[in-house]
Amino acid sequence: MNMILLGPPGAGKGTQAKMLIEKYQIPQISTGDILRANLKERTPLGLKAKEYMDQGLLVPDEVVIEITRERLKKPDCQKGYILDGFPRTVAQALALDKVLAGMNSQVDHVISVEVDRNELLKRLTGRRTCRQCGAMYHVIFNPSLNKDICDKCRGELYLRDDDNEDTVRNRLEVYDSQTFPLIQYYQQKGLVRQIEGIGSIQQIFERIVQTLS
Ligand code: AP5
Ligand code: MG
Ligand code: ZN
Repeated sequence: MNMILLGPPGAGKGTQAKMLIEKYQIPQISTGDILRANLKERTPLGLKAKEYMDQGLLVPDEVVIEITRERLKKPDCQKGYILDGFPRTVAQALALDKVLAGMNSQVDHVISVEVDRNELLKRLTGRRTCRQCGAMYHVIFNPSLNKDICDKCRGELYLRDDDNEDTVRNRLEVYDSQTFPLIQYYQQKGLVRQIEGIGSIQQIFERIVQTLS
């Protein structure tokens, strides 16, 4: 099953992807996570990407297309994958179609998770992420048992550099202008399933699973 999780920043793509990979036993491919991992290792790619990410802007298409192309070639993607945060522009979607065609593959499902702006702002400014394993929490909606410590690995929880209110506003604007048009792109291909993204994490998971079955 080859799936794209589409939705604005804070819609819950990463949260749901982590549950879906357990259920379907396929990997999550998050370009955001890959860029942050590069930054942690201080690679040239990570340092370059940071300039864009800190402003809430998209990293150039060719950079993320190359990352995704390489990742999709890995053997663990043969049974399927969940793309989280890629594609994000029509140019990226066109490039993805080309890469997949070259592999005799295609996108099977596009799950569009819909959440209104006020809720997104609350979710992002309250998010805490584990520095060690990447697990996501929310100070109110999904708190860890011990403040600032990950339940799963005891790693330190931190506020992502781009989760301050100003940057979040930029990210939401970038979503509206550059990523939202993708819904129409995939609608024309008949692939989009819209999911109401308000409700508990478990409820939304069940909605997605039901849509996929
Ligand atoms: P990326 O890391 O992809 O961030 P994003 O798209 O902005 O999305 P988020 O990760 O912020 O949100 P999410 O939908 O995963 O929500 P989450 O599950 O964490 O990208 C970051 C940057 O990298 C971009 O700005 C860009 O610069 C660059 N980049 C990445 N990919 C790129 C690409 N393809 N092209 C160009 N540039 C790219 O949930 C959010 C919070 O809400 C959490 O605290 C969670 O606990 C809580 N929550 C989740 N579900 C619920 C619920 N049902 N109810 C209440 N709270 C909930
Ligand atoms: Mg995410
Ligand atoms: Zn952790």
